[in-house]
Parts: sequence; structure tokens; C-alpha cells
Amino acid sequence: QTPSHYSFDVRETQYRRLCSTKSILTVNGKFPGPTIRVHKGDTIFVDVYNKGNYNITLHWHGVKQIRNPWTDGPAYITQCPIQPGKKFRQKLVFSTEEGTIWWHAHSDWARATVHGAIYVYPTNNTPYPFPKPHAEIPIIFGEWWMSDVNRLFTEFMETGGSPNVSDALTINGQPGDLFPCSMSETFKLNVEQGKTYHLRVVNAAMNLILFFTVSQHNLTVVGADGMYTKQLTRDFLCISPGQTMDVLLHANQKPSHYYLAARAYSTGVGVAFDNTTTTARVEYSGNYTPPSSSSLPSLPNFNDTQAAFDFITSLRGLHERYPRPVPINITTQIVTTISINTLPCPNGKTCLGPNGTIFSASMNNISFQTPNVDILKAYYYHINGVYKKGFPRFPPFLFNFTGDFLPLTLNVPKERTKVNVLNYGATVEIVFQGTNVVSGIDHPMHLHGFSFHVVGYGIGNFNRSKDPMKYNLVDPPFLNTVIVPVNGWTAIRFVATNPGVWFMHCHLERHQAWGMETVFIVKNGKNANETLPPPPPDMPQC
Ligand code: C2O
Ligand code: CU
Repeated sequence: QTPSHYSFDVRETQYRRLCSTKSILTVNGKFPGPTIRVHKGDTIFVDVYNKGNYNITLHWHGVKQIRNPWTDGPAYITQCPIQPGKKFRQKLVFSTEEGTIWWHAHSDWARATVHGAIYVYPTNNTPYPFPKPHAEIPIIFGEWWMSDVNRLFTEFMETGGSPNVSDALTINGQPGDLFPCSMSETFKLNVEQGKTYHLRVVNAAMNLILFFTVSQHNLTVVGADGMYTKQLTRDFLCISPGQTMDVLLHANQKPSHYYLAARAYSTGVGVAFDNTTTTARVEYSGNYTPPSSSSLPSLPNFNDTQAAFDFITSLRGLHERYPRPVPINITTQIVTTISINTLPCPNGKTCLGPNGTIFSASMNNISFQTPNVDILKAYYYHINGVYKKGFPRFPPFLFNFTGDFLPLTLNVPKERTKVNVLNYGATVEIVFQGTNVVSGIDHPMHLHGFSFHVVGYGIGNFNRSKDPMKYNLVDPPFLNTVIVPVNGWTAIRFVATNPGVWFMHCHLERHQAWGMETVFIVKNGKNANETLPPPPPDMPQC
């Protein structure tokens, strides 16, 4: 039995890292926050009490929330924030999820410290698609700033510049042995030789896609984004913010201490650094002399786009377990650029973006403007003037998006609150086209309310007549967050059978802050069980 009610107190707590203490926002005083344990098919309730000083919302990343967008959580998309002193009871409806997903704050930059794992066990009597591991261990990646994250957020939004990179990457909240003042608290994974461990890996970092490895050991991926996958054995993983993986670690080496390490993978200007590596230790039990220092495992270079591409395109769905055909007849095709842009600096201000501009980001040249009333409420109660329909289904014009010379018009996006309206049951294909505008970088694109089939990836410009012929319609992975390779594209498909309002955004927090996002409204179907139910009585007010 797993609990069906949780109580989450959001409050400030003092934490000490990198030799200095600061106050951070936590849930129940914990960083990372508490783990939620459920079985596939469960419905649970989380009472969220805001005992902090700022407005906040919580989101259950990877929970599809069928017919339940009201408690999905993104601020001003499905709800107004929970104000200090207020409470909101959030319902979590688990349907087809299995494996590991997570929860996190979905307002401003609070998710830097407000996040935790969700373990979804198979329904009773259904076995795992792999031998039952000896133990399960969380591996939650995060980023730590010595300064106040809320202040950091307001400052870079105000100046139009890029936020400072974090001062350390963390594993389960700890920077690891490379940071002298925290060595004694490095996370340790105690193993027995011959046993298998289930790592529940969550990338809760704000802005960094990561390479992750364990020295001398292979890693076997058995699940991703809350669905089991075909087994994939590699000596490293590549995982983006928002993604989760179920990974088996076989303790099959000679008893000793080994490093587990992660570091940033990035090609973008301003974040191309490779001096940030976080470590944890795998320690075998038994009688042996521990090494005085273990050597760091090797990882791909921080800018090894090929290593990242090879890994992300190797994942396959476990279609024997989830017999759900990939939609073939597409009723709604969307091809959208995803770009970093700049906007002119307002008169009389000093802006810290490239050449004195303001950083911005867009999809199909629209930089999403967050409204003051949530879109779900506006849709449900027919409140006018909050959003506009008609997010463009294709880029404003065709161009060599991944080339070196790009037209200036693509540089300056339009600031709008435009949504996509989908009929119930629409079969949707989205092609995310990365661009080289301002700076080319991988983007982890995340969709709320669905798992989607990732049918294709490519480098360069998407070719509408040739590329679809190479799609994988047999065993594509089901994900909720997918990496779009730098100067390349990714194609996904899903069926719009979840009525409501669903956010789609880049899970790099700075890109989301700059507007790399849009919203889907899925209309009601004909049958009663295909409609959006009314809101719960305690929806937060703006
Ligand atoms: Cu991980 Cu919009 O969320
Ligand atoms: Cu992005």
C-alpha cells in the first residue's frame, strides 16, 4: 500500500553548501524534496500549503492528468499561483505511467530547489519488464547557486541578459568530492557485489543537459519519462532537464570505491564550460582497502554533439507492454522553429543581451507572453482578451534555418499569447526545427498532458517530402520531454484525447523565461467521458 494523501509545506529553510549558508525554498524542509510513491492507475491528493514569501505553483511532471488539467500546475497556464498563506489541494491522476517521473515548482525559478521524484510502481500483480532489482536509489541532478535564485531570476529578466551559470551541479543535493568544503557529505551508494540496483534518475537541473556515467560499470536504461523502454546498455547517458530515466546498475566489479559523475553537455554561447562536474561514490561492502582517491570516469566532451545525438536517438519504446499504435493518418501537422532571439532595448535602458539587446526566444517567431489570468480559466469561463487562437502551423517563411546567415526578421520575434486549438481525437505531428538564430543549442521540448511517440530526428533542415519516409513508426520511444539536436530537428506524434489546456515549452529554464513555449487547448469530445470536468472548489485566485 502506498499513501493516497500527502501534505507539502512550501517554506524557506537554511541550507549550507560550498561553505556558505543561505535560505532556500523547500517542501517539508527537504532538498531535494520528498518522494511520492504510487502504483500505476492510482489517484492521490497533495495538499500544498504556501508558507513561503512568494507566489508558487507545483507541477507533476510526466503525470498525464487525464481530464484533470486543473491541478497540473504551470503558473498562469492552468492556475493562478498559490499566494503566501494559502493552500491548494492538488489531485494527481496516474493512468499509464510506470517507472520514474518527478514533481517541481512551475513558477518563476522556484524549481531550482523545489523538486522531488515520483516512483510509479506497476499495478499489483504486474511484474517489471526486468528482474526485480535489489534496491532502488534516487539520482537527482540539480544546480546550486550561491546567490538567491529568486533575485537572480528577477535580475536577468530585468536586464535582458543571460543568467549566471550555477556555482555547482549536484547529485541528491550534494556537489561532491571536487568541491572541497562539501566532500564529507558526498552522496554514497552502498552496494553489494553481485546485486543489481535500480537508479531512479531525474535531471532537475535548470539549464544543463548532462552526460552521466559510473566508472568501470555499464548503465542499462530500462525506462524513460515514466514508461519502460527496450533495454539500452551504454557506458554513459545523456539526459536533459525534465527527463527521467530508470537505469539498472549491476555491481559486478571488484569491491572498491567508484565514482559516479555527471557534467554539462552544451554547445551554446555563454554556457560552454566544462569545469562543472558533480560526483557521488559507489562503495562496495566487504573487506578491502578503499582507494585513497578514486579516479574520475571519462565522459564525452562538453561539446560532443555526436555522442549526445547517438545516445538520444538510440532509445526505443517497449511496445509489447504498451500496445498503442503510432498515429499514421495525421490530421494536424505543425512545423515550428525554436529559436533564441533578441529584442531591441527600450529607450533609456541599458540591456545586457547581445550588443545591448534583450534576450528573447520563440516558436515560429512568436515569443509567448504569459497572461495575468490563467488560460484554462479563460477558456473554461469564456473570458475574452486573455489569449488568442491561431498559433502558426508553419514557420513564417522557409529558409536555411541551420545555416550561418539568417535574415534579420527572424531575429526579432513578435510577443503574443497565441494558442493552438485541437479537436478532440486529432492526430498531431509536431516537427521542432532548431535554428542557428543568435545561438544554436539543443533544446529539450516538453509537453504537458501527454506522452508522445518520437518518430524521427535529423541534422539540418527538416525536409517535408523526404524525412517522413525515414520515420520510426514501429518502436519509437514514448517521452514527455525530447531533445531537439543543435541545428537539427525532432518529430513527435500524439493523439489529442486529453481535453483541457496543456503547456508546451523548452525545459531549459532560461529559454522558458524568454518565451520558448506555446499552449494547446484540446476541445471536448462528444461523449461524457471525453469532456473537461468543472474546477475543484479551492482553485487559487489571482
Ligand atoms: Cu517539468 Cu512544464 O514542466
Ligand atoms: Cu531551449
